[in-house]
Amino acid sequence: MLIYFSQTGNTQLLAQAIKKNVENSDIIYVGFWTDKGNASEEALDYLKTLHHQKIFLFGTAGFGKSEEYFKRIINKVKESIDSTNEVVGSFMCQGKMPDSVLQRYLSLKESDKAPKNIDLLIENYYEALNHPNEEDLENLKKAIV
Ligand SMILES: Cc1cc2nc3c(=O)[nH]c(=O)nc-3n(C[C@H](O)[C@H](O)[C@H](O)COP(=O)(O)O)c2cc1C
Repeated sequence: MLIYFSQTGNTQLLAQAIKKNVENSDIIYVGFWTDKGNASEEALDYLKTLHHQKIFLFGTAGFGKSEEYFKRIINKVKESIDSTNEVVGSFMCQGKMPDSVLQRYLSLKESDKAPKNIDLLIENYYEALNHPNEEDLENLKKAIV
């Protein structure tokens, strides 16, 4: 079974890429977008309803420079999964963010409240625009069990 939560379409792209591959699987593939370092509330609410299931988590996040960051998110999501379930695998990649995020960064940069890493945030914004790309989708296909 495949279920996903996607606000702007990035996670939906991942779901579409594996739709055929996971047909008839006894694993529940759950896709989510990242909100405040965790899966979105809707996705967490769904995960909390699962018991005695095999779960594969896949998600997208605006920041993507390190696997460590993705791991932290996955671990956070796992906190909402009942221990009768088994998380059989996971995959995360970066996902583009809306233009409003860039506009916020740009106005912050001009203000006296700009965080020290504002240039890195802007750089990350542009990098995220390229994701999910074909390589991400291929990597997801390789990761699914
Ligand atoms: C309200 C909001 C909060 C977000 N919080 C985070 C976050 O904490 N960490 C992160 O890496 N990305 C964050 N993002 C970026 C999204 O997770 C990212 O763009 C994701 O790919 C969106 O997936 P979707 O297109 O499937 O909705 C946030 C985006 C929004 C709109």
